[in-house]
Amino acid sequence: MNRLPSLLAGVLLGLATTASATGVETRWIGPDDPLAETARQRGGAVGQELLQTLMGEVKAALKTGGPVHAVDFCNLQALPLTMNVTMRSGTDVLDVKRTSLQLRNPRNAPDPAEEEALQRVVEILETKGELPGYLLQEVVEENGDEEVRFYKPIALRQGCLQCHGDPSTFSAELRETLAENYPDDQATGYEEGDWRGLLRVSLAKP
Ligand code: HEC
Repeated sequence: MNRLPSLLAGVLLGLATTASATGVETRWIGPDDPLAETARQRGGAVGQELLQTLMGEVKAALKTGGPVHAVDFCNLQALPLTMNVTMRSGTDVLDVKRTSLQLRNPRNAPDPAEEEALQRVVEILETKGELPGYLLQEVVEENGDEEVRFYKPIALRQGCLQCHGDPSTFSAELRETLAENYPDDQATGYEEGDWRGLLRVSLAKP
């Protein structure tokens, strides 16, 4: 088959969409796009709720039993708590997740569309020297499922370094607990203000 016509059409459309080898198609949604306003507001609100839920729980666990206890707590509860936020958020919210280029839990590994978002943040950081406030992306799965994704870059605050900072500042017990639960942990060695990863809220396309 001659594939040139569709290739040409892609070029003429300005390559607004990219199709990866996995069959997922993605498109960045600019601020003037009709989809942008709702996605930004809804994604922002749900994202905020997730961060508040997780950090509230981590703070409480730190207070009760210190970092070792809090890591055990995160190990058991971070993913279920994340799923809870999806469940109670209404039918327009399809999924909520955190991901990173330096993972602690491999279950938070990026999917192909998230991979593109992570790379885009890297580019923006390199060219502008600061994190974007958010990114919006339209995703069409191979099976035709569509969603609008809101991504929020997460930067590390001082308190986060107790578990993501320089391991030599950790107690031996904390180092052991991390090594036991996360043998491939890449999420240490950060400094305050460093970019840690992305929060993602998937919304049903209106
Ligand atoms: C008490 C220790 C602790 C503190 C404090 C902490 N984290 Fe984590 N963090 C963890 C653990 C444990 C995981 C893995 C959770 C899991 O199993 O899903 C994690 C996972 C993450 C992830 C998901 C990506 C990945 O690598 O698995 C992000 C993003 C993250 N932390 C950001 C932060 C930020 C931002 C702060 C501060 C606001 C923070 N963390 C504070 C222990 C901590």
